[in-house]
Amino acid sequence: MAVALLRSVPSSFAGALSAVRPDPPIDVALARAQHDAYRRALEACGASVDVLEADEACPDCVFIEDTAVIGDGVALIARSGAPSRRAETPAVAGALERHGFRVVQMTAPGTLDGGDCMRVGRSLYVGRSPRTNAEGIAQLTRAFPQLRVVPVDLPAGVLHLKCVCSPLGNDRIALAEDSIPAAVFDAEIVWVPADEKYASNLVAVGAHAVVAEGFPRTHDALARAGFSLHPVPVSEARKADGSLTCQSIVL
Ligand code: GLY
Repeated sequence: MAVALLRSVPSSFAGALSAVRPDPPIDVALARAQHDAYRRALEACGASVDVLEADEACPDCVFIEDTAVIGDGVALIARSGAPSRRAETPAVAGALERHGFRVVQMTAPGTLDGGDCMRVGRSLYVGRSPRTNAEGIAQLTRAFPQLRVVPVDLPAGVLHLKCVCSPLGNDRIALAEDSIPAAVFDAEIVWVPADEKYASNLVAVGAHAVVAEGFPRTHDALARAGFSLHPVPVSEARKADGSLTCQSIVL
């Protein structure tokens, strides 16, 4: 059974990083309700969920995906390109150790956010983004010598690789049209219409997928690809430039 590691929403989430100041501001009570809906959707997908305590000193800690990259029993603890997020990692490293991972710590001057990494088969795609630098990619490559690490240039204004694509399992990915050329990926593509780009970020668990509600053409494409869909509201995470994959690490 898949295990999903989550982290609760702190009250300080109202001050989470965002490229544009949210208007209206983040509603923390609503963010918590939406996080609960996300947890329940993962459980409905068949995942068992382990929720770590929030850290009030880390407004963005709910976006746990960015703190680590896992694979084949190894957890690389990332050093975020956003300095305010670096204190998020010790609690996550401890949890990953408890789940049996050998923990490797990224060191300066490397930076990397887990949201820039997407595993597909034996390939690990990594976005060259404002958060992930060449030294971070070099340390990623050393941490996972058995994988083919493929750096990917991102379109302007895209925060993380997984803002425009997500792994679907079985060498398939969801990819937003007009974002990254399909030829970059050794994968079968399920296309997400350009005007529904946000919906290209989703969490697939076997034949189930947790998806952002309100994107009907993407939902149709995923249903045609064989997925049972679990739509959830994401308005508050979106105000902090977050989405669905960033709220969990699926072990
Ligand atoms: N608020 C998520 C991030 O900017 O990292």
